[in-house]
Amino acid sequence: MREWAEPLGSILMKEIGKPLKSAISEISRTADIFEATSEAGSQIEGESMFGDVFKGFTRDKVSLTSRVPLGVILCIGPFNYPFNLTGSKIAPALMAGNTVIVKPPSQGAITPLYYGIILEEAGVPPGVFNIITGRGSELGDYLVSHPGIDMVSFTGSSDTGKHIAQVAGMKPLLFELGGKDAAIVLDDADLEKTVDAIVSGAFSYSGQRCTAVKRVLPMPGIADKLIQKVKEKTLLISIGDPAENKTIGPLINSKQCDYVQELIDDAVNKGAKILCGNKREGNILWPTILDNVTTNMRVAWEEPFGPVLPFIRIRSAEEAIEISNKSQYGLQGMIFTENIDLAFNIAQELEVGTVQINGKSERGPDHFPFLGTKSSGLGTQGIKYSIEAMSRPKVVVLNLSEKGKLVKDCKY
Ligand code: NAP
Ligand code: G3P
Repeated sequence: MREWAEPLGSILMKEIGKPLKSAISEISRTADIFEATSEAGSQIEGESMFGDVFKGFTRDKVSLTSRVPLGVILCIGPFNYPFNLTGSKIAPALMAGNTVIVKPPSQGAITPLYYGIILEEAGVPPGVFNIITGRGSELGDYLVSHPGIDMVSFTGSSDTGKHIAQVAGMKPLLFELGGKDAAIVLDDADLEKTVDAIVSGAFSYSGQRCTAVKRVLPMPGIADKLIQKVKEKTLLISIGDPAENKTIGPLINSKQCDYVQELIDDAVNKGAKILCGNKREGNILWPTILDNVTTNMRVAWEEPFGPVLPFIRIRSAEEAIEISNKSQYGLQGMIFTENIDLAFNIAQELEVGTVQINGKSERGPDHFPFLGTKSSGLGTQGIKYSIEAMSRPKVVVLNLSEKGKLVKDCKY
């Protein structure tokens, strides 16, 4: 993977419009995941216990537990990380002893095909790794409901995830879905650090990340200067050809652009103020900042998956928690403040998988647990968590007999 990071990254960039540098690092990040997974996989342990914890049982009853594979894992990945978010499923699935079927995204199907060569060269036996290309809407139901599929590991939109959950039947599901990650900014936040986190978190890969910063909830004492600084930094963002590593490039398709524009227009019609952007050339949307966004606007709740950042001004931490939790999504949240005790207490109240304190929402590092609540997911990804999710306990209970009893001066 590392040898091919540049050529594969270049294909990835052409497939999904990801800036070349990020596309190349997606390949090398996946190599790191494979290495870390192989290390973690060799440390997966079982456990043993004696029965005498419960009345009526003695130490003659001993349970020995190990982990065994589930069988055939169906791995379905999204367009925005087609190589990494298929690889982050393939590695733990193989390490847990399963065989794998990958259904790559139709936009981003080419780079995952190279797993066939990479894994064969790595010594994976024929038949262990399989890949099926084709539209998810056409072959998805057949695959997820097939009795030969023992588990579905899916990353994609919440709508698709909910559909899969209805069709798949009784089998384990591991879902990483949509997000609407909110950045709560308190008056004492470090302004520069917060601005950097918000701008890079909101606009890298044109906002096409589930963990993108998708709404900012600033307190009154910092709101004006925060928004001004975010706007200034946003105006410096490079726009154009991903081959030249421009941060803002084309969205995945024109339908997505239309959808993002719809959210912007709805917000403006309901009174939001455009501070920059709201401009389109082909499939390139300029990074757009909306101030005075209110909760009756669609952009306050829907996932744009594009370069639009709404500011919803708040008056208290309680209001921030309420607005954060009202979302159907619960992937990650952020709190920017110098008062770590307060941040920790607010974090306890947020109904999300992960709360970043003084940092942008993001999946990495890849051994951290990564999960979404509510419409953002089912189960937990992350190196050892994925191996666990793609395996199950196997229990063998020893019922020792009286014959084996140790007696005084035992002779045998
Ligand atoms: P998507 O439209 O849901 O597609 C994701 C994958 O599912 C694709 O491979 C797609 O195949 C396949 N698919 C579509 N319909 C299916 C069906 N009925 N049965 C089985 N598979 C089906 O999502 P996307 O547009 O690729 O990615 C954007 C969305 O994914 C956003 O909502 C984003 O938040 C979410 N996402 C979440 C995470 C996370 O870690 N939580 C990471 C990345 C993306 P086709 O390409 O052939 O349609
Ligand atoms: O949308 C992809 C999701 O997994 C986020 O990954 O590393 O960009 O936070 P990352």
